Amino acid sequence: MQKAIAYARERRVTYLDQFRDWLRIPSISALPEHGADCVRAAQWLAGHLREIGLPRVEVIPSQRNHPLVYAEHARDANAPTVLFYGHYDVQPVDPLELWTTPPFEPAQRGDRLYARGASDDKGQVFAAVKAIEAMIATHELPVNVKLLVEGQEESGGEEIHAYVPRHRKKLAADCALVLDSGFFAAGVPAITVGLRGILYTEIEIQGPKSDLHSGVYGGAVPNPFHEMVRVLALLHDKSNRVRLPGFYRAVREPSEEELRMWRALPGSDADLRAEVGAEGLTLEDGRTSLECRWSRPTLEIHGVGGGFSGAGGKTVLPAKALAKVSMRLVPDQKPEAIFKSLDRFVRRQVRPAYRVDVRKLSTGRPWVVSSEEPAVRAAAQAWTVAYGAEAKFIRVGGSVPIVDVFKNTLRLPVIVTGFGMPDDNLHAPNEKVELPAMWDGVDAVIRFFHEFARTRR
Ligand code: BES
Ligand code: MN
Ligand code: MN
Repeated sequence: MQKAIAYARERRVTYLDQFRDWLRIPSISALPEHGADCVRAAQWLAGHLREIGLPRVEVIPSQRNHPLVYAEHARDANAPTVLFYGHYDVQPVDPLELWTTPPFEPAQRGDRLYARGASDDKGQVFAAVKAIEAMIATHELPVNVKLLVEGQEESGGEEIHAYVPRHRKKLAADCALVLDSGFFAAGVPAITVGLRGILYTEIEIQGPKSDLHSGVYGGAVPNPFHEMVRVLALLHDKSNRVRLPGFYRAVREPSEEELRMWRALPGSDADLRAEVGAEGLTLEDGRTSLECRWSRPTLEIHGVGGGFSGAGGKTVLPAKALAKVSMRLVPDQKPEAIFKSLDRFVRRQVRPAYRVDVRKLSTGRPWVVSSEEPAVRAAAQAWTVAYGAEAKFIRVGGSVPIVDVFKNTLRLPVIVTGFGMPDDNLHAPNEKVELPAMWDGVDAVIRFFHEFARTRR
């Protein structure tokens, strides 16, 4: 193990150059015009995996230019197998003017490297790849490895959701390691033992068949914005709870033990308020901000479009109003049941003068794992040693939809962790990765592979 760690340490300068090359490829999966870039990012990774000596590497062709990259190194039939997962696709970059340096021109300032994808998730995939390279090169790879890296995590993940159930044998393993999460706070490494699920929808309300002069027609003709804001305003009550029938029915409360662990974590609700710069918080009665973000379901309105909201005035009676609405789900809520409830609620509320359509865009199930799970313990041990501070068990309010599929379809214990920092600006301008955390992440992955192999022996 020490040889591999030393091997990777000596090569950081070279590694950084390679990493920058990958970051320069704008693999934004949500934007069709970046399809060719997504393919290039996949090929870059596949080429790299071949170079570091993985005997089997595939770029799995894709309908929508978001190929999966699969690779494996089967070393020893008696050794355990780790399935590694991450994603090479990144979020869009707007508003571009708020970036200090361009998102696809990686720029180092102090210990930080700024670029879209630096933390979510290319940096984390890169660290794992370098750990595997170092273990292969020093003949210190203690496990069999399989890698499955997707290019569509940020935009629905259809390809991987279709692929995994059809390739159970190929993907068979003893655990999955998902590096797409991170620290609780600076200096506090963590293992993520719960992720919220997601149900992403759009609601469209139509009034007249085309935009009209609001003076000539207004008053007699239905305005879809009036109906939209009325319906949207019905979705929460005054104590910040979601009003959809049955929304909370399947919600499982965290254990007392888990709540105790959360209370012992540093930081307060006041810190959160200061961090986000809001005048106050919208907590559910009697619950802390960590509870509200980690173990409670939510409904968020992301934006309302249609009509006119440009500079100056335009007297239009809009034909259509569109709202993007997502719900974060917790165990044991089911996206299908929640969608039904939303669909019925909205249809009942919208009056006959309007047409309404509620569409499901993507879903992912919530996931939790026990912190007693041996693979999770092995990761906590590796992260604690590599970062020189005790790894905490946390949950995260975000979603990584494939994790539940690894658990329930592949029947794997899943480790979700990483070295992202809360202030990495994920999905926002000036995304960055802390380079020391990335380099320690290489060590952490090497340590994890050894720790996992040891506990399996
Ligand atoms: N890596 C994130 C999830 C995450 C965020 C983990 C913060 C830990 C801390 C992932 O790439 C992500 O952004 N997921 C999306 C999924 C959605 C687009 C289906 C999310 O949570 O919004
Ligand atoms: Mn991610
Ligand atoms: Mn993301």
